[in-house]
Amino acid sequence: MADTEDVKDARNYLPGVPAPHDGFFLKGAHQLDWGMRNRLARIFRPASGRTVMLAIDHGYFLGPTTGLERVDVTIVPLLEHADALMCTRGILRSTIPASFGNGVVMRASGGPSTLKELSNEQLAVDIEDAVRMNVAAMAVQVFIGGEHETQSVHNMTRLVDAGLRYGIPTLGVTAVGKDLARDARYLGLATRICAELGAQVVKTYYCDRGFEAVTAGCPVPIVMAGGKKLPELDALTMAYSAVDQGAAGVDMGRNIFQSEAPAAMIQAVGKVVHQLMKPARAYEYYLSLKEEQRKRGR
Ligand code: R5P
Repeated sequence: MADTEDVKDARNYLPGVPAPHDGFFLKGAHQLDWGMRNRLARIFRPASGRTVMLAIDHGYFLGPTTGLERVDVTIVPLLEHADALMCTRGILRSTIPASFGNGVVMRASGGPSTLKELSNEQLAVDIEDAVRMNVAAMAVQVFIGGEHETQSVHNMTRLVDAGLRYGIPTLGVTAVGKDLARDARYLGLATRICAELGAQVVKTYYCDRGFEAVTAGCPVPIVMAGGKKLPELDALTMAYSAVDQGAAGVDMGRNIFQSEAPAAMIQAVGKVVHQLMKPARAYEYYLSLKEEQRKRGR
């Protein structure tokens, strides 16, 4: 038991020093619970407020995908350069080392393959399993304008409710169907609906005109989806334009793991995202890392 005699008067109250009030560094997150903010800080770097999230969840509807045939060989070496990893629980448990300390964003919806109507998804992960895997967020596809729009929105709102019970943020992923335009009007509609209905982070595509209005109109952080493989300079330019216009980073897959030099590419994307390095310089950086890698024979 603590000795209660001769206890010194506490004097170090420092009345002139205001207590820190945690404004938190992420848009729309300052009123969230501690656990949720802690998880968001495992996805987004507090110093820049942005993330390089590596998306490798394609297999949940595409099966084996070019670049993801052997995740152990091609992806695990990239993890040291990723602020967060977006994947399925099957790949997480089978292949990702549990020593990976950054944020895991768990793919939590699924069902149809490319052989069927993709918007017909259901929730595919139980909240208890997300807790067990210690994930930093759960991701769900939202098909605004799609055939199963309401069902997919309902998937998201159920996930948001479950996540709020345990302090796990939800990433709403706006899916763009083949008949839907990827313009600012559509992306603004889809991202805003995800945020209004509770997603703490939203993933969407970049559009050449009006992307700034899409990010400004969304009260929570937007991360840019990569999309189909582009030449490296074009992908770096798209990432630069997105963060320059308010995106809180990227959630990029094929433009990294299908690159000729994935490790060089993810590091170049990191320079763009965290340091706003201009695309031409980031491309030179990519080429120099790629050349170093070639000399090392890897
Ligand atoms: C979206 O539908 C999934 O999360 C994808 O697996 C992911 O967005 C793909 O990333 P990327 O388009 O950059 O290859």
